Amino acid sequence: MCGIVGITSNKQVTSRIINSLKKLEYRGYDSAGIATLEEGIIKEVKCEGRVDILEKNISKININGEIGIGHVRWATHGKPSTLNAHPHSSEVVSVVHNGIIENSTILKKLLEKKGHQFKSQTDTEVIAHLVTDYLKKNNLKNTIVKVLKKLHGSFALGIIFKDQPDLIVGARRGSPLAVGYGPNENYLGSDSYALKSMTNKVSYLNDGEFCLIKKDNIDFFDTKGNKINKKILNLSKNDQSYDKGDYKHFMSKEIEEQPTTIKNCVNEYVDKVNQKINIYNFPWKINEIKSLVLVGCGTAYHSCMIAKYWFEKNSLLEVNVDIASEFRYRKLKFKKDCLYVFVSQSGETADTYAALDICKKNKMKICSIVNVVESSIARDSDFVLPIHCGPEIGVASTKAFLGQMLVLYMLCLKISFDQKIINKKVYVQKIKNLLLLSKLIKKTLLIDNKIQIISKTFANSRGSMFLGRGYSFPIALEGALKLKELAYMHAEGYPAGEMKHGPLALIEEGMPVVVIAPRDELYKKTVSNMQEVISRGAKVLLITNKSKDEIFSENIWETITVENVSNDLLPFLTTIPLQKLAYYSALEKGYDIDKPRNLAKSVTVE
Ligand code: G6P
Repeated sequence: MCGIVGITSNKQVTSRIINSLKKLEYRGYDSAGIATLEEGIIKEVKCEGRVDILEKNISKININGEIGIGHVRWATHGKPSTLNAHPHSSEVVSVVHNGIIENSTILKKLLEKKGHQFKSQTDTEVIAHLVTDYLKKNNLKNTIVKVLKKLHGSFALGIIFKDQPDLIVGARRGSPLAVGYGPNENYLGSDSYALKSMTNKVSYLNDGEFCLIKKDNIDFFDTKGNKINKKILNLSKNDQSYDKGDYKHFMSKEIEEQPTTIKNCVNEYVDKVNQKINIYNFPWKINEIKSLVLVGCGTAYHSCMIAKYWFEKNSLLEVNVDIASEFRYRKLKFKKDCLYVFVSQSGETADTYAALDICKKNKMKICSIVNVVESSIARDSDFVLPIHCGPEIGVASTKAFLGQMLVLYMLCLKISFDQKIINKKVYVQKIKNLLLLSKLIKKTLLIDNKIQIISKTFANSRGSMFLGRGYSFPIALEGALKLKELAYMHAEGYPAGEMKHGPLALIEEGMPVVVIAPRDELYKKTVSNMQEVISRGAKVLLITNKSKDEIFSENIWETITVENVSNDLLPFLTTIPLQKLAYYSALEKGYDIDKPRNLAKSVTVE
């Protein structure tokens, strides 16, 4: 997955393309490139690494066109390198691409037979040559229709042409693409956020559509090349600050922001006067929904797993949770009385979107829980529940995770009350508990000194395990994921009770093991499992909450105690030490915390 941008204007475009690419780095940052057209010559500058490097390289070169395309890459076909960086050009066109062309090997062979020569290992270069080939016998529009038909897989494309001084072609299948309208100039971008500094008027391409963008006009077409009309949408103007402030990393800023983001989100949904949760315009009656399917990827999937415990405990709904990349290829039995809920920070994750699309095609009830309300997932849902946590820049999700859990929990409480599983008194008490959550998170955050020391042991170990039961099991998975993402360490999350069925064999003398055992109904069971790993040599870091009761376990290496809160809300607090553990372990190792190797913030390929 990658980010693409294009501008056609009567002013120079290079610096604005660079600025937009910086905003798209959440999609990939292993290489970057730009191509502009000047007096019939396509000029390209590309590099391995970040947009900052591209910017430095450009400052030494004249690349001053009034039309251009740019790209940030997350490698799929071909390793990250200058040669494989986009744009990819033939003698007549230059292409930027987000997605995967699944039949590129076959197409490449056919084109090579016709004399086309390839320079890179990418699937994208095939598109440049295919367009070049079709242009020999077809006009431009027919060429695009035919090329798009030939390509298998997913793509968002931006193409400029040597002999078209004012034209960018944009095309979409699977991967999102927005176009923007400006004064005597128009734009193309992977998302509207990349275009926000230039315009607040945008349209979105739907699957299979393409467009011809000139500086004073944009034409849209369907798959067959028939002209179509597009709605122009007005984006909200507030381009929120993407500043680290005094923090060293976006991730530490985002961890510390959690009391505020939780408070904001609670304020959006809780009516404090009438002590109820407001979910306005919910399009279905409560008795129309008998089951839930919660779908997400990565951290978002973990929030779904936790929600399953809440919904099962507090509602009559049958709940299933699925990883989007699995959901999309399963033989599913769709049910009319099921609500399909898609959870995604970015709202652009390809697998989650594809899973949603399947439900949409089967005319199911679709709700999404997103941070980016202008995203593809939000746009294609029947109903959207935003998490209101502001932009999340660090690749490893932190505040969005808490936001996702919070919205899922509030949805659960509302359903629970509407289904009469909890009475008004319990409902009001649970809302009161929610109103205290922000303060308790704030207090729990004050553990830096201790966790920093503990992190040294983790950073110097070969691997670690994270154990929990009940809703502490998904928290264990999330803690392990954070450590993998940031500290590049093997970390395994496991249900504490399952250790004896295999993973116990991994425990060796001195291995750090995190046990998440808050004082809930499963506490004693988890403590027994903790004892089993301690007996086999593990160094246990116990995450629990404050209690008058003693901890009946010996030889615990370290204990971190989070604030006291009702059992339902414990996951919000036990997550905090795990976020910090991963952060400080990565810091200890000197890794790039906001942009870990091989990863991207928004995964727009499958
Ligand atoms: C990537 C990110 C993760 C995130 C996952 C799902 O892998 O690095 O932090 O949890 O995508 O992203 P989404 O935007 O759908 O929540």
